[in-house]
Amino acid sequence: MTKSILVTGATGTLGRVLVPALRDRGHDVRGLSRSAPGHVHGDLRTGAGIPEAVDGADVIIHAATDGRHDEATTSTLLRSVRDDQHLVYVSIVGVDRVPLPYYRSKYRIEQTIRASGGSILRATQFHGLVHAFARVLTKAPLGFYPAFAFQPVDTGDVARRLAEIAEGGRVELEDFAGPEVRSARDLFESYLRIAGKRRPLVPLRLPGKIFGGYRAGGHLAPDRALGTVTWEAFLTRRAADPA
Ligand SMILES: NC(=O)c1ccc[n+]([C@@H]2O[C@H](COP(=O)([O-])OP(=O)(O)OC[C@H]3O[C@@H](n4cnc5c(N)ncnc54)[C@H](OP(=O)(O)O)[C@@H]3O)[C@@H](O)[C@H]2O)c1
Repeated sequence: MTKSILVTGATGTLGRVLVPALRDRGHDVRGLSRSAPGHVHGDLRTGAGIPEAVDGADVIIHAATDGRHDEATTSTLLRSVRDDQHLVYVSIVGVDRVPLPYYRSKYRIEQTIRASGGSILRATQFHGLVHAFARVLTKAPLGFYPAFAFQPVDTGDVARRLAEIAEGGRVELEDFAGPEVRSARDLFESYLRIAGKRRPLVPLRLPGKIFGGYRAGGHLAPDRALGTVTWEAFLTRRAADPA
């Protein structure tokens, strides 16, 4: 059944893929952005335009993020969402396990979303984020890799699951992870090979509970390896179409 869906964060890494994926499935989709052309305009920090954007939507997929303002911006959004509208929040695997301040705030947001009857999909790191880490950490003649693993996931796979949730009923809390758990060293070596670069790589280890949380795999969900697109498939696609 066709749904009227509002996507916050429509211009973001996920939103850019999610909006067309929902349209391809026949839904009537509006994307929210502060200023990008072709979208409904609204600012979750000031609240301007938010009631109008939310009005009439069956489902609101909340994929906007404004860093340390996310608790306030999500509260602003929730004030406009009625009980008969389905709010789906995009969170991150391990927000309850890795004590990063951004994760902690997302975990608190999750509690608010759950109390309001919304759905939560926690994803692992998107391929694009791991790619950005690989690029930055291997820029110099001596490259670094964090001494832990990732389970990168494709935004197309996450978009597909979000669409299913939007079409179905409430999902209280679900993890959605990439197809493989791989050491960052292994992922970075593949990145260098496909980029045609050679670098010696040394491990990066940091003290503290945050790094420890990643090292312990708090951000991984090996039993929820539902993504289909591998790291190498992503890199090959990106090399062919860098945009
Ligand atoms: N990146 C990852 O690896 C990853 C992994 C798992 C889960 N997640 C989660 O997935 C969600 C989407 O992440 P992403 O990487 O796609 O985000 P992103 O690329 O950083 O995009 C952020 C989006 O938020 C919008 N936004 C920011 N401030 C806003 C405001 N005040 N009012 C309205 N819109 C605002 C931006 O729209 P405009 O600039 O056009 O206004 C933009 O579309 C986030 O909740 C993130 O925590 C991300």
